[in-house]
Amino acid sequence: MKTIILGAKGMLAQDLASVFKEEDPLLMDKEDLDITDEKQVRKMVFDLRPDLILNAAAYTDVDRAEDEKETAFKINGEAVGFLAKAAAETGAILVHFSTDYVFEGDKEDGYKEDNESRNPINIYGASKLIGEKEILKTKNLKYYLVRISWLFGPAGKRGQYKNFVNTIIKLAGEKDELKVIDDQLGKPTYTLDVAKAIKDLIKHQAPFGVYHLPNEPWTSWYNFAKKIVEIKGLKTKVTPCSSKEFVRKAKRPKYSILLNTRLSPQRNWEEALKEYLYD
Ligand SMILES: NC(=O)c1ccc[n+]([C@@H]2O[C@H](COP(=O)([O-])OP(=O)(O)OC[C@H]3O[C@@H](n4cnc5c(N)ncnc54)[C@H](OP(=O)(O)O)[C@@H]3O)[C@@H](O)[C@H]2O)c1
Repeated sequence: MKTIILGAKGMLAQDLASVFKEEDPLLMDKEDLDITDEKQVRKMVFDLRPDLILNAAAYTDVDRAEDEKETAFKINGEAVGFLAKAAAETGAILVHFSTDYVFEGDKEDGYKEDNESRNPINIYGASKLIGEKEILKTKNLKYYLVRISWLFGPAGKRGQYKNFVNTIIKLAGEKDELKVIDDQLGKPTYTLDVAKAIKDLIKHQAPFGVYHLPNEPWTSWYNFAKKIVEIKGLKTKVTPCSSKEFVRKAKRPKYSILLNTRLSPQRNWEEALKEYLYD
């Protein structure tokens, strides 16, 4: 399959590139193709005629998005529409990634794939919701819209501390005690597991639609941090705190729990974490 990976220098894209290496994918980041430029997008898709477009390009800085709404909406929203339209017109399959942050986070028992009530509480979530709507409204589009959450994996071009796991390890090296939020729940998701699951969806020609691919089960940031410190054998004490003690620019959902009701569950995140830290 002629495959293109967009946002190729990002965290998830690196594992997509390794899992799809037999397809010899064309790797493109912003400097090769700015997805917000519709002309560029159409030229790329119509010239190259890919069978498969894996779109891992995104604006992912949740706090900065509060001040850069227009940019976030363009990259995560409008640009997804450009890709969807070009893919539908050429018959390419589009795999696009979205997030638990499209949900409000008020449902203790979590969100299924077809949950209609998507009321994001921050700009990043709102921008990703626009992208989802662009995909869902595009006629004749062959798509996998894949929601994931609390992503960890190779650090990407912004340096080795970009994801939560690496940040905790870095902070544990600097402090004797770390306070970590205990009242936000979600599911850590390992990029390599996502990439492998996407490959399976395509290989088995799974029905197009919306999928949730987090690792299992749900946990809190505090428990996640405690496990990271434990697995690494670090001495730092991890103590729970509430969101009120750790105020950030963008609000975070309380129950960010994605329910995977369409596929076999992804493996336990602890196992994936050990593999990420030690393999
Ligand atoms: N990270 C998470 O915890 C998380 C959670 C849930 C869902 N997701 C979703 O998963 C996907 C992958 O996330 P990630 O964390 O791997 O992303 P990432 O590491 O931030 O990578 C995104 C890549 O897209 C590039 N990009 C930005 N604007 C672009 C544009 N206009 N044209 C082309 N490329 C552009 C970025 O380049 P620059 O760095 O130069 O801007 C970066 O290389 C995204 O859709 C994200 O929303 C992520």
